[in-house]
Amino acid sequence: MQESGKTQYICEEDIQRQLHICEEIKQRNEARREGTPLACIQTYGCQQNVADGQRLMGMLEACGFAFTEEAGRADLVVLNTCAIREHAEQRVFGNLGLLTHTKRERPEQIIVLCGCMAQEERTARRIRESYRHVDLVFGPQALWRFPELLRQVYETKKRVFSVEDEAGSIAEGLPVVRERGVKAWVSIMYGCNNFCSYCIVPYVRGRERSRDPEAVLAEVRQLVEAGYKDITLLGQNVNSYGNDLDSGYHFPDLLEDISRIPGDYWIRFMSSHPKDASPALFDAMARCGPVAKQLHLPFQSGNNRILREMNRRYTRESYLELIRYARSVMPGLVLTSDVIVGFPGETEEEFLDTVSLVEEVGFDALFTFIYSPRPGTRAASMPDPVPRAEKQRWFDRLLEVQNRHSAKIHAGYADRTVRVLADGESGDGDYPLSSRTEGNRLVRLKGDPSLIGRFLDVKITGSNTWALYGEPV
Ligand code: 5AD
Ligand code: SF4
Repeated sequence: MQESGKTQYICEEDIQRQLHICEEIKQRNEARREGTPLACIQTYGCQQNVADGQRLMGMLEACGFAFTEEAGRADLVVLNTCAIREHAEQRVFGNLGLLTHTKRERPEQIIVLCGCMAQEERTARRIRESYRHVDLVFGPQALWRFPELLRQVYETKKRVFSVEDEAGSIAEGLPVVRERGVKAWVSIMYGCNNFCSYCIVPYVRGRERSRDPEAVLAEVRQLVEAGYKDITLLGQNVNSYGNDLDSGYHFPDLLEDISRIPGDYWIRFMSSHPKDASPALFDAMARCGPVAKQLHLPFQSGNNRILREMNRRYTRESYLELIRYARSVMPGLVLTSDVIVGFPGETEEEFLDTVSLVEEVGFDALFTFIYSPRPGTRAASMPDPVPRAEKQRWFDRLLEVQNRHSAKIHAGYADRTVRVLADGESGDGDYPLSSRTEGNRLVRLKGDPSLIGRFLDVKITGSNTWALYGEPV
């Protein structure tokens, strides 16, 4: 390992060793009588996991695997899991249960559980004791060592668990298989230091660490050259990018440098934490042509007592001030946010502060979640007297306010001509193309699939709460 500032980088030799193991496994696979082995990767949760899934695919491809969506046909099944809410975990356990059948039919099948759930001690214990058909378990910090761990399973024919509580490191140069198309994701940092009291992420993804700006710039340049046109920079809190590099280089600097890469493309980023979002960030966004004028800024609650209990370290007022400033330098900015309803001890009156904040800001869209206790977090031990059914009523009420507002904003697009990027097929016969505006609003289009990958001017002819409809002009 090498250290730069506080960040640990996996050294070139260690990465080369993993690639060498991939080659070894590949040779073994090529000698198989049964032909090319198949891997099935099931990814749950956020974009960060999707990006991790693309690395897993890259490593498996280097090991000589081809891919299938059907676990029943696969020689290797990988569950790339999410721990953010209980529901996500239940789905994984449900699917793990189903895999007992596929393994009974194919005893040679290898089952791997990785991602955020794997890093939770109680999950690892449960897998060890009750899901004995799982062969390999490793957390996000060990992702780069997947080839080595897989070889260990092949060679020892024993179950392998690599779930030590590591602070985390940065591994450059791992292979990646990207989805073909126009969208790509680039992790610029890993981990989180914020310890919001409801959140499991800092416990499973380790401490904040930023990739070297040169490595990020090289990756984005490569993506633009390869024809990707909608590139999203990822991190749990991109606004603290660079804090660990001790070089005075921060997220707005990265946006400026990326924007100098020639080409026709949009740059987005998520997520931002309001405590670290600054006027300097919004000024950089406004100045940089390729940076989409779109902001996802989770506020979680509109009530100051709840924000304090959540350990969010900003207030309703300072949040509103940020939004005012962002809109003053970027008129027409598209704004989205995350909200938690029913945090432990939240009263109806406090919840109504969330509703009023939503009404005051007028978000383009909102991601709303009912609070889900995560064992080991501070909030999980707080008294939580409000019944689930009551929280559901609050949730429905908030959703109704937001849906009405989204429909109204969308109706305001009528007859306007907007620039969109056609990014795929929609599956809707009348409007067969799917596209996105600079603000990332979905526009279903009349038109031919040959337009996919192109920026187009379209006229908006209709809308509802979730989408706009239009045709190329
Ligand atoms: N319960 C409900 N929602 C949560 N989130 C994070 N942790 C929890 C939890 N324990 C939500 C937050 C965050 C989004 C990614 O998930 O709103 O911004
Ligand atoms: Fe979780 Fe807060 Fe970190 Fe986001 S900033 S990942 S909500 S702890």
